[in-house]
Amino acid sequence: MSEFIDPNIVKRIINLREELHRHNYLYYAVDDIEISDSEYDRMMNELIELEKAYPELVSPDSPSVRVGAPPLKKFGTIKHTIKMLSLKNAFSESDIRDFDKKVKKELGTDGDILYTAEPKMDGVAVELVYEDGKLAVGSTRGDGDTGEDITSNVRTIRTVPLLLLNRSESEKIPSHLEVRGEIVISREGFRSLNEDMSEQGLPLFANPRNAAAGSLRQLDSKVTAARPLEIFFYGTGEASKMDIGSHWELLCALREHGFRINSHIKPKIGIEDVIEYYRDLEKRRYELPYDIDGMVVKVDSLILQIQLGSTAKWPQWAIACKFKAIQETTKILDISVQVGRTGALTPVAHLETVNIGGVNVNRATLHNEDEARRKDIRIGDTVLVQRAGDVIPEIIKVIDTARNGDKKVFNMPENCPSCSFPVVRDEKEASVRCNNEFCPAKIKAQVEHFASKRAFDIDGLGEKLIGQLFDNGLLSSYADIFYLDKKKIEGLGGMGVKSAENLAEAIEKSKSISFARFLYALGIRHVGEHIAEIISLKYGSLESLFSATFDELKEIKGIGPVAAQNLMEFLSREKNRKKIDRILKGGVKILFEKNNKKATLDGKVFVLTGILDTMTRNEAVKRIKMLGGKVSESVSKKTDYLAAGKSPGSKLEKAMALGVEIIDENTLRAILEA
Ligand code: IVH
Repeated sequence: MSEFIDPNIVKRIINLREELHRHNYLYYAVDDIEISDSEYDRMMNELIELEKAYPELVSPDSPSVRVGAPPLKKFGTIKHTIKMLSLKNAFSESDIRDFDKKVKKELGTDGDILYTAEPKMDGVAVELVYEDGKLAVGSTRGDGDTGEDITSNVRTIRTVPLLLLNRSESEKIPSHLEVRGEIVISREGFRSLNEDMSEQGLPLFANPRNAAAGSLRQLDSKVTAARPLEIFFYGTGEASKMDIGSHWELLCALREHGFRINSHIKPKIGIEDVIEYYRDLEKRRYELPYDIDGMVVKVDSLILQIQLGSTAKWPQWAIACKFKAIQETTKILDISVQVGRTGALTPVAHLETVNIGGVNVNRATLHNEDEARRKDIRIGDTVLVQRAGDVIPEIIKVIDTARNGDKKVFNMPENCPSCSFPVVRDEKEASVRCNNEFCPAKIKAQVEHFASKRAFDIDGLGEKLIGQLFDNGLLSSYADIFYLDKKKIEGLGGMGVKSAENLAEAIEKSKSISFARFLYALGIRHVGEHIAEIISLKYGSLESLFSATFDELKEIKGIGPVAAQNLMEFLSREKNRKKIDRILKGGVKILFEKNNKKATLDGKVFVLTGILDTMTRNEAVKRIKMLGGKVSESVSKKTDYLAAGKSPGSKLEKAMALGVEIIDENTLRAILEA
């Protein structure tokens, strides 16, 4: 061990740690970035290298612990100082009114009570203990009294502060502080995590909550470090030293210490506004990037909370108001088999139409033959169906079989239902495939994928029209899209001059496309959006990707051998090269991110409001930041653009009042793709 370390090295390490902590805080707690992701990564790598060279300087508070610690044999246990209670459930507006009445009765008052209402995040509850401003322990809720010690795992989560900030000169950090929050994975993170799992041949997670729980339960924190976990804080355990009067003030104080608080919380409102917020939140639940399953209402005053007290199970000052079920029961009328773009056969249940959370559902996926067998799903069964956001509805379980021996077990066909080619089974992947490259169902599905929202996003080119174009010989691969004859389309059933014109316009608009979307659109097996994005950041032209070797591709972080192999195979086939060539000759312009790295939105501040149609909010944020812009949660004089999607919120009015430039989604896209 070197006894004399150059003081400049020590200084540099301290400086890097301070800067990384500060940028973490800016990024996650106040959503206001100062440096690019690559600059952050560069600083982090420098710190990791220095700590490797000088192990005597390693510290548990260093931001480098985000990469994970050595694996554990098993988790220890942690006793919570104050029991982690659950919440009583309410299911309707009248339940919420009853809660308000009960609160008033208990307090012996007729006056209005002030509540703070919050989204109820659907994740995993944890408690973090800070000693002298440093993260000391992280634990799960467990049975409420005792949880599991997951300290090394929570340290890897970038939104978990390792060191706390002072609120002000006079209000210092309490010497002992216990905070509580919910660890979640966003729907986007869940999708890309499952994409990676499938790529590695591992079983998929059923939903973001299971993915978050599974990721926290890893004995090797390096695995946890690679998972897209996030945390939101909503309260405290033992925090008597904070000397605060209300729940909302408590949350604000936590935010000042560097804890991330949900930005959709409504502070200090009366019961009618609570109900209004509940309605609004339910309507907007899928606009949030992570799953929420209801609203939590809390009596705001901490004195009143103490007066109201708790039962053994839940506090009497709070209630969880669940949203309408996204699960309903219905009957299976039939089961058919769909052929996907990669040739995979998927059993699909046709259902008696049922309204789930405001949407009529008549189909649900059974995933694959094994799933259908495992759940023992048969035609005529009554089943529990679930939908969530834009994911395909799925069957959770059979409720009532009412079987009298006549219902048949589902079997995959031996031949493709579209082209009659014999199907091929892959036991390892639990899949059944049609390998006929001319299979009509497969080609139609490939075109559908190519034109879909996350790929070329060609409005109006959906399943039905694609079927018509294919059946009439106007299209035999996705490359033909850019050569369609408007006159011939006009003649198709249900089309006409105007629709053909609209389609031509949508195709024209789609021709300028990012490299990532282009790669994703090609529909190469195992090359999903996530991997397409990684590749697009690595290669600045098609030629450079065409000349990449297998070894080079598989070494890229996040790609792996399976995707690399599929990509190589796809690109090395003459037929596919010709298809790409035909797309480009049809007028498609690919925008390469690698060469566009130079920031064009340097320092410009964006605020987003409302629903975006052609990209997710996360995607928009990522792209703005990639171009050097900033995204802020609220409109102020410093805002350069308010990007307003459908049904914009109050931010629109504020932007108008402040004279901030308001742009619609098309303009935002144009700016991002310029
Ligand atoms: S407060 C004593 N606030 O819901 C009150 N909980 O069903 C403690 N949850 O275990 C909870 N979002 O994991 C509270 N904004 C929020 C929440 C929230 C999600 C979870 C939490 C708790 C469960 C109770």
